This record gives sequence, C-alpha cells and structure tokens, in this order.
Amino acid sequence: MMGVVAADETEVAIVGAGPAGLVLSHLLAARDIDCVVLEQRDRAYVEHRVRAGVLEHPTVELLRSLGLADRLDREGLAHRGIQLAFDGVRHRIDFLELTGRSITVYGQQEVVKDLIAARLAAGGPIVFEAVDVTPIGVDTDHPLVRYRRDDQRHELRCRIVAGCDGSYSVCAGMVPGRAVAERRYPFAWLGILARAAPTQDELVYASHERGFALYSMRSPEVTRLYLQVAPGEDLAAWSDDRIWTELAARLPLADGFRLNTGPIIERGVTGMHSSVATPMRYGKLLIAGDAAHIVPATGAKGMNLAIADATVMAAAIEDALRGGRPERLADYTSTCLSRVWRTQLFSHRMTTMLHRFGDDPFQRQLQRAELDLVTSSAAAATDLAEQYAGLPFATFAERVG
Ligand code: DHB
Repeated sequence: MMGVVAADETEVAIVGAGPAGLVLSHLLAARDIDCVVLEQRDRAYVEHRVRAGVLEHPTVELLRSLGLADRLDREGLAHRGIQLAFDGVRHRIDFLELTGRSITVYGQQEVVKDLIAARLAAGGPIVFEAVDVTPIGVDTDHPLVRYRRDDQRHELRCRIVAGCDGSYSVCAGMVPGRAVAERRYPFAWLGILARAAPTQDELVYASHERGFALYSMRSPEVTRLYLQVAPGEDLAAWSDDRIWTELAARLPLADGFRLNTGPIIERGVTGMHSSVATPMRYGKLLIAGDAAHIVPATGAKGMNLAIADATVMAAAIEDALRGGRPERLADYTSTCLSRVWRTQLFSHRMTTMLHRFGDDPFQRQLQRAELDLVTSSAAAATDLAEQYAGLPFATFAERVG
C-alpha cells in the first residue's frame, strides 16, 4: 500500500540512465555536484538495449578524461576510416589521414554498462525501476521530482532537473511552447547482430539499386548488419535466409570482401526520422539527448550528440550552482543547438546520399554525383571525415583539466 512519501534531496535530479544521463552524472560528480539518476527500467534492460556502436573521437577522449575508458580501450575497435560502396566498388575514406582523428566501434550498451558500473562503484545513486517520474515546480527555485518505486511514493527535492529520458520523454513534454522541426524518411532499417566473424576491419556503407546496406561489427566474433526496408516493416516477413540473401545482393562482395553468416542473435526495425525540439530548457528543467532531438541512424550520431549535450549541461549547471551565474542556464539551448543542427545536417546528408528514395532519376543522379565527389575530392572527403570523426566538444574542452 502506498502510504507516507519518502523524501530525499539532491542538487541535480537526472531522469533517465541512457548515455546522456549517465555521462552527466559522471561530469557532475567530477565537479563535486550531487546528483541522483532515476531510471524507469531495470538495470538489465538498459544494459542490453541494442543501439548503434560508433564513438566519435571527442566522445572517446571525454570518456578517457573521466577515467571511464578502460574496457573501451581494451575491447573497442579503433577504425581509421570507413568505406563507401556504389556500383559494386568500395572507396575508402581515411579519417586518420584526412583529419588526424579516428573512430571507435563499441556498442552503446557497452558504454552504458561501463558508466553504470563506475557510477555505482563510486557510490553514486542510480534508482532503477523508478516509475511515474514527474517533475514539479521546475519554474520555481524549489523543484522536485515525484516518482514511485515498489509501491512506495518518493519525492526528490533538487535545484535542477535534467531530462535525459529519451524519445518518449516525459520531461520534454513539460516545456511550454515547445516547437518541433522534423522530417520523416520513407524507409527504416532492419538491423541484426550475428554470431559471425567480421571479414572487414572497417564499416562498409553500400548504396545499391535494391536499397542501402551497412556492414558493421561489434567484436572479432560478432557482425552488425543493416538493410534499408519499408517503414514499419514486419520482421516476421524476414526469414534468416531472406536477410542473408538480401545482404549478399546489396553488399559489394568482391575483392576479398566475403560475408560470413551465422546465427542471428538480435534483430529489430528502426524508423528513420530527424527532429529538433526547442527550447531545450524551461526554468530549472534542462533537456538532453533523444528527449530533445532525433537523428536518422546513418552516421551513428545519436549517442555522440546526447553526450555532447551532457557536456554543455554540466558546464551550465556548474556555473549556475557553483559560479553564482544562474543566468547561464538561459544559454543552454543556444549552446547546444549549433552542434545539434550541424549533426542534423551531417546525418541528413549521409542518409540522402546513400538510400534509395523511389525511382526519381534526378535524385539518383544527384546521389551518384555526391558519391563521386566525396570519393574523388580530398576537400569533400575531408569535410565528411571531420564530421564523422567528430568536431570538438567546444564548451567542455575549455573546462577539462
Ligand atoms: C552502426 C550504426 C550506424 O548507424 C552507423 O552509421 C554505423 C554503424 C553500428 O551499429 O555499428
């Protein structure tokens, strides 16, 4: 029975234990700012939620600076570039050569596991299975978050609420006058994890008449693969055999590129969608990651962008709570938005360059011209490489160390 309300207090109540909320909790702890993470799911669920797995260079550097990269440095796969394939031919874009930076392939859920383990080991509270989370009074100086756990009602008093609660965010819905700019794409991705050894040490993005395909990996034993499919595609229509046959048809399997098959251990369909909701703040409530914006999967920017938001948020909170500059919270949205829109542009370009959009011959020729350009002009390749490998986390860089 729900009786008395258990009351508690912290400086920052973080709603959501995904990459944004967890990185924020570590950044705040590094600044001696007290926080509590509230997560509606259980620990096993968030640790096994399969997402993309490419970490930008600044993301890796940030995790290292926080002492959170031991396993990432051991098990992550450092990639110096990617390959773009069209007309059955692969073209390399060498990020390291073009920009001096590389990327690391490491599953998002592995990052989440590492962040949770380190936070709990440091005694940082993460409340799993906190349901009906509701921020109250975020436009006052005394906000609080109500939630329920094991049939006990709780109230967490705080100074700031961080809404890092993902694409179905409760927190984002509390921002009055929120405007959403969005675009839906006429396709989705069917993604699989297969117990099959990767044969490549770089990702292969393949543009094909039958639709886009992506070759990626998670470890020396596990391959990650994606196919462009119709939006809302029924997984039941895709037998293992059909998936492998379609992958073999779309990937440029020649010149030593073989596709190892094996048991499919995970599968899902992800819609392709871009959105940006503004403002990202209301009073003492700040929103980060998918709760504020969604990027289409091509280029794997979702987690990296969520972590970039967390760095801006941590800096703004520190200025407000420790630096006597509460007005810094007002700059949070505009500081985040420049990276958000550049990332939207990048993800949109990658998506439109590589997917099949119906039969429009003009569009096909533009795509072809863009692929030609990016694989033949050093300037165009460097532009792609710089954005893929990740532009620096400006606001945070000034403050580390
Ligand atoms: C992966 C996902 C992406 O969206 C991408 O662009 C590259 C790789 C992945 O899951 O490995």
